[in-house]
Amino acid sequence: MITRLVDLWIRRSWRPDPAALAQWEGLRPAVVVTGGSEGLGFEIARQFARRGRDVVLVARRQEVLEAAASVIRREFSTVVLALPLDVTSPDAAQKLEAVLREHGFYADVLVNNAGMGLSGAYIDEPGERIAALVDLNTRAVSLLIRHFLPGMCVRGHGGVLNIASLGGYTPGPYQAAYYASKAYVISLTEAVAWEVRGRGVRVAVFAPGPISTEFHTRMGAESALYRWLIPAPGPSLMASSAVRWFEWGRTVITPGVVAPIAAIAMRLLPHPILVPIIGWLLKPRDLLRNAGRKSSGR
Ligand SMILES: NC(=O)c1ccc[n+]([C@@H]2O[C@H](COP(=O)([O-])OP(=O)(O)OC[C@H]3O[C@@H](n4cnc5c(N)ncnc54)[C@H](OP(=O)(O)O)[C@@H]3O)[C@@H](O)[C@H]2O)c1
Repeated sequence: MITRLVDLWIRRSWRPDPAALAQWEGLRPAVVVTGGSEGLGFEIARQFARRGRDVVLVARRQEVLEAAASVIRREFSTVVLALPLDVTSPDAAQKLEAVLREHGFYADVLVNNAGMGLSGAYIDEPGERIAALVDLNTRAVSLLIRHFLPGMCVRGHGGVLNIASLGGYTPGPYQAAYYASKAYVISLTEAVAWEVRGRGVRVAVFAPGPISTEFHTRMGAESALYRWLIPAPGPSLMASSAVRWFEWGRTVITPGVVAPIAAIAMRLLPHPILVPIIGWLLKPRDLLRNAGRKSSGR
């Protein structure tokens, strides 16, 4: 709330520059959601569509994407575009902008949601998987923001919602690269949000705990203790919280009651105590079992 008031104060004498705005003439504002074909991204897209916004879903698998777009179209009377694109491909941001223009849109809101995890010991992970994670979770996010945020600032409207994780508040043994990538996203968002304050745009990061999607199965984390011990709410509840607080202008969004407390605890606890606890929660139990077999000579 205070941030919003500071923003309005800084912006009190701002006037749009008609010459600069001409480049978007005839185009309509859209909400672009990367990874919008399923899980959290799909639910975030639904939340925006519910508010009457036209949405653009971006993901790689065309069939899943088209199916997701038709579900939202059936539910709400907004335009829903399905754009098959790998956001880590070279010039993904430029390609995305070109396709948006072709369809008569510009990115008013960008939701950087597409992400992947890796579960297991870092030294056992193939280098190319680590590179793929860094590319998707940090490089693509950074470049998409760099490409679309300047236009939002010129228009004095819209913004960026980045999806991080509570994991971004602590080192995460057995999901080391994933946790580190989300720390990057939180840090980048807070810094950029400060830089563009007073420009009429919202730059926010959503940092939830575990959510019940296919994400954990995809990275092979189902046997880790956190999957049993930490409740994972559905993506729809999480998405409604993310979009609501984004609209309210919050910069760091930790949903519910437990996540904000956990975030504070992770910031305050000394790492020699915190890191072993997180490692214990994240270690895949099949790894534990294999280690047990090795030590007993089986
Ligand atoms: N689930 C959780 O517990 C949890 C908790 C905290 C934070 N998060 C974060 O929330 C975000 C969404 O997670 P989720 O659970 O919804 O994941 P998910 O169910 O695995 O969905 C991932 C989405 O990203 C798309 N995607 C993956 N790679 C892509 C690429 N290179 N280019 C374009 N799209 C790509 C996928 O579609 P295609 O495969 O067809 O491309 C899919 O639509 C992630 O950033 C994740 O880190 C998740």
